[in-house]
Amino acid sequence: MSTETQEYTNGMRPGPLTREIPECMRDKYTVVQTVFDVLAFLMVAIGYIIQAIYRTIVGYPKKDLKGSIALVTGGGGGLGSLIALRLARLGCVVVLWDINKQG
Ligand SMILES: NC(=O)c1ccc[n+]([C@@H]2O[C@H](COP(=O)([O-])OP(=O)(O)OC[C@H]3O[C@@H](n4cnc5c(N)ncnc54)[C@H](O)[C@@H]3O)[C@@H](O)[C@H]2O)c1
Repeated sequence: MSTETQEYTNGMRPGPLTREIPECMRDKYTVVQTVFDVLAFLMVAIGYIIQAIYRTIVGYPKKDLKGSIALVTGGGGGLGSLIALRLARLGCVVVLWDINKQG
């Protein structure tokens, strides 16, 4: 008959034997640790939600492109030409690249 005693890490509910949990993980399996983890997760999640709401309302700070050089591939037509025109209006030096010479 086995007379194995079951010792549990302080604060841990009966579950796996302490020796079955890797040495480095034992102190992390406490109720207090779990509560802290959940609270930390909630704080970070709420922080990101507040940041997303703020950015939706206020918007992102816009980068000043005046004087920047922009290379647009396929700038002879379609989306490329529209992007090139927009960049030129924002003050960029626009370099166009296209196989369609006419465009
Ligand atoms: N139009 C859309 O709704 C849409 C949506 C998602 C993605 N895209 C992608 O965006 C890109 C542009 O779309 P578009 O509708 O403006 O296409 P488009 O065909 O109107 O324009 C493409 C331009 O690229 C040029 N081009 C093609 N091969 C080239 C090469 N090897 N080197 C340089 N220039 C070249 C063409 O001459 C043309 O002027 C495509 O890759 C397309 O798949 C388009």
